[in-house]
Amino acid sequence: PAAVIVAIDGPSGTGKSSTSKAVAAKLGLRYLDTGAQYRAITWWMLNNGVDVADAGAVATAAAKPSIVSGTDPERPAITVDGADASAPIRTQAVTAAVSAVSAVPEVRARMTDLQREIARSTGRGIVVEGRDIGTTVLPDADLKIFLTASPEARAARRSGELKGKEAAGLDATREALARRDAADSGRTVSPLAKAEDAHEVDTTELSLEQVVECVVTLVEQVA
Ligand code: C5P
Repeated sequence: PAAVIVAIDGPSGTGKSSTSKAVAAKLGLRYLDTGAQYRAITWWMLNNGVDVADAGAVATAAAKPSIVSGTDPERPAITVDGADASAPIRTQAVTAAVSAVSAVPEVRARMTDLQREIARSTGRGIVVEGRDIGTTVLPDADLKIFLTASPEARAARRSGELKGKEAAGLDATREALARRDAADSGRTVSPLAKAEDAHEVDTTELSLEQVVECVVTLVEQVA
């Protein structure tokens, strides 16, 4: 089908975003970064005085911000109440708070609805990346990929991305990643998990180009 739906899940630092954008661009598909949506709602909470450690307060506020995701793989902007939030959602303050916010069921219900709506309404097919896309958001996706990599490879990639911005040591980066993954995997509502029918790709020893080629080949088999 022309409107192929591809779900790409996995922990942080496995190359999900780079891979998903490149695959979408190569195949002329749309692209949705669901992590950016969880970051956007977290950013709004931090800016609006919501105590992110208070699940009740987060639940009450969950419906308030308007979040609009661009789906162009070359320029996937996200706006919160009309303002471009693409840069501020990447700060360490947001990264540190996002797992607590995204564990709240009301937040997940809202984001899941938004994600299904976007996936349903694109006529051209879409690559959707996240943690629970293959298991919960789009269980009928045409193709499911689960990316993994060693903790060392993931920390090295992540600290490379942060370089020059908010440079943190490799150890601190590895610890922060491990903490976030433990929270994301351990939460009650749709935790980070590999769908039974997902193709697992270990990216530790692969270049981005190799991972992209692998996924493109898998898409072409189902499209
Ligand atoms: O992918 P990224 O690292 O930007 O995701 C940020 C956070 O958003 C994750 O650590 C996780 O807490 C949350 N998330 C989620 N479900 C998704 C995508 C992201 O809970 N589908």
